[in-house]
Amino acid sequence: MKKRIAVLASGSGSNAENIANYFSNHELIEVSLFISNKKDAFIHRRAEKLNIPCYYFPTKQFNETDDVSGLLKKERIDLIVLAGFLLKIPENMLRAFPDAIINIHPALLPKFGGKGMYGDHVHRAVVAAGEEQSGITVHYVNENYDEGKIIFQATCEILPGDTPEDVARKVHALEYKHFPCVIEKVLNA
Ligand code: GRF
Repeated sequence: MKKRIAVLASGSGSNAENIANYFSNHELIEVSLFISNKKDAFIHRRAEKLNIPCYYFPTKQFNETDDVSGLLKKERIDLIVLAGFLLKIPENMLRAFPDAIINIHPALLPKFGGKGMYGDHVHRAVVAAGEEQSGITVHYVNENYDEGKIIFQATCEILPGDTPEDVARKVHALEYKHFPCVIEKVLNA
């Protein structure tokens, strides 16, 4: 039986789509469902096109009930992948899925992580700090934002004059290139 992935995203979901495409004809792994805490997020539209179920859980239900863990267990999910998912993962879900939740962060942790460090905030902070490099970090998820064990990092150069948008573009390219392969490795581990 194939290993089953759930991808959680709060926004556009371009990584979610890229991951789904990567595994669409995979022999051993499939993307079984998406989850979003935003009703109008673009990921719902992508899910329709990809023919992947996309569940919406309002933040309160996500944080204060076992409903999401219940769904993920019922769907026999092996790996939960956070791709631009902005809520903290509640204790009950961490307990229900030990070592089975991973996140991608659009910078080189442990720098530029933590609460409020998401999306363009990260790229703006990286440029403001005059960094010569940025990149991606894939890591296990624990009870603190961006602090779980690091699985993989890849870097890109920041050139003089690069704007946060330029950095975002380079980082997204790294995400598309590496994240699916890292997921594949984690599942075969
Ligand atoms: C990505 O840069 C990811 O690293 C970050 O949020 C962004 C999500 O982009 N956590 P998308 O929704 O996959 O386009």
